[in-house]
Amino acid sequence: MEDIIIGAVALAAVFLFFLYQKQNTKQYKLPPGPLGLPVIGNIHQLESLNPQRFFAGWAKKYGPILSFKIGKRAMVVISSAELAKELLKTQDVNFADRPQHRGQEFITYGRRDMAFNNYTPYYREIRKMGMNHLFSPTRVATFKHVREEEARRMMDKINKAAETSEAVDISELMLTFTNSVVCRQAFGKKYNEDGEEMKRFIKILYGTQSVFGMTFFSDFFPFCRFLDDWTGLTKYMMECFERQDTYLQEIIKETLNPNKVKPETESMIDLLMEIYKDQPFASEFTLENVKAVVLDIVVAGTDTAAAAVVWGMTYLTKYPQVMKKAQAEVRDYARENGLTFLSEDDVKNLPYFRALVKETLRIEPVIPLLVARNCIKDTKIAGYDIPAGTTVNVNVWAVSRDEKEWGPNPDEFRPERFLEKEVDFKGTDYEFIPFGSGRRMCPGMRLGAAMMEVPYANLLLKFNFRLPNGMKPEEINMDVMTGVAMHKSQHLMLVPEKV
Ligand code: HEM
Repeated sequence: MEDIIIGAVALAAVFLFFLYQKQNTKQYKLPPGPLGLPVIGNIHQLESLNPQRFFAGWAKKYGPILSFKIGKRAMVVISSAELAKELLKTQDVNFADRPQHRGQEFITYGRRDMAFNNYTPYYREIRKMGMNHLFSPTRVATFKHVREEEARRMMDKINKAAETSEAVDISELMLTFTNSVVCRQAFGKKYNEDGEEMKRFIKILYGTQSVFGMTFFSDFFPFCRFLDDWTGLTKYMMECFERQDTYLQEIIKETLNPNKVKPETESMIDLLMEIYKDQPFASEFTLENVKAVVLDIVVAGTDTAAAAVVWGMTYLTKYPQVMKKAQAEVRDYARENGLTFLSEDDVKNLPYFRALVKETLRIEPVIPLLVARNCIKDTKIAGYDIPAGTTVNVNVWAVSRDEKEWGPNPDEFRPERFLEKEVDFKGTDYEFIPFGSGRRMCPGMRLGAAMMEVPYANLLLKFNFRLPNGMKPEEINMDVMTGVAMHKSQHLMLVPEKV
């Protein structure tokens, strides 16, 4: 008898669930999209490999604004410059929240960071502080010597490999470069690259980054939290958190030590600890807030610039005429000025190289779907209803290929575009928004660009490269690995030759 009652209650629950879903969606005129199944929505139709290309394919079928569902959650993807402007400029405030994500929430100490906090008064205070201090032009400039020193180290390593015509792993080298720079900028720590401390830092970082990018069942099916536990996701998330927290706690302890030797340049955590001591915000800025904000800097700062330069070198290998032109510019400049290394100041004088940096971020924007936004109040875009609580992604990868803006061959890697057209990535030219735009735009844009430029320019100055083992450029695998930033899934191996 008991079984029959439980069965009947379960059936009634499922029936009510469907009824609720039906009523809930009936009144809205949602953007077009593929037909989904009850309960699961469109989850079975999604591809996780190369999501930006996958959604660009859907956009061809359904248009520049499309909708679908994962479980209960309504999702919208925008793929044109015009609608990106509508979302990120005209309706920016209404889309300034971030959607719920169990892993991000847990690992950022309950969203005390900048990237995943909603558009709250606390968020506005830390964002303002970030723009004025953490990421200000002055602070970016104070770490110039760090970036240049680490870039020299990277070139020395490639030099050694060039002596024996050994292939180098550009992906690994770039990650080591960004990891070292970020450790010095964020914590004032200079680790031995192959030492145990650096290995520990990298393990922690990769764990944290993987949790940020992970899909949790309970985000889309709130009643399925037990599946996160069964599959081991919850345990993995907690282990990553433990390791990260122990490390950050140690860093904070060192910073609080009155006998600590003051570093030559004030690191970002020093600045955050001053805020902790002064408590200038309306809400309390605890040690957990310090950890959460510094985590953003570390996570966002390491992956992005490294991924971008790797994509750049990949496209240059596929487009040798662009490689030659870029090399000619940097080498002529170095010869005329008697230089063997290009500094950040030199890069400003290299128009083709600067166009190359932009073209690299256009053809493979490293956060191709931006960080998702959450719709705060019911609204309309392009005549369609967007209900409150909808998760919205801007497919920057598709926007960067919007033929209306970029002409007939948007897939061609051609830096000249940026010499012919005055477009910048500062967030006001909506056809080119690799750093996003509006209130949630990347605050680390200047720092990110600076971290890309010096290693990129010096790779072009000092070496010619070829693919190993007679591999042909068209054989390079272009798949992406999903995470915070989209890396090339297979590491880029190149054989350097000294110039
Ligand atoms: C090439 C390098 C980089 C690229 C392409 C990049 C791109 C982006 C993008 C697309 C977003 C989301 C913007 C949006 O939602 O509209 C973002 C957010 C963010 N980025 Fe970057 N980024 C880079 C480097 C950095 C660096 C070096 C830092 C810090 C050290 C940083 C810190 C952040 C933070 C804190 C956010 C969240 C902002 C918020 O939600 O208010 N980024 N970035």
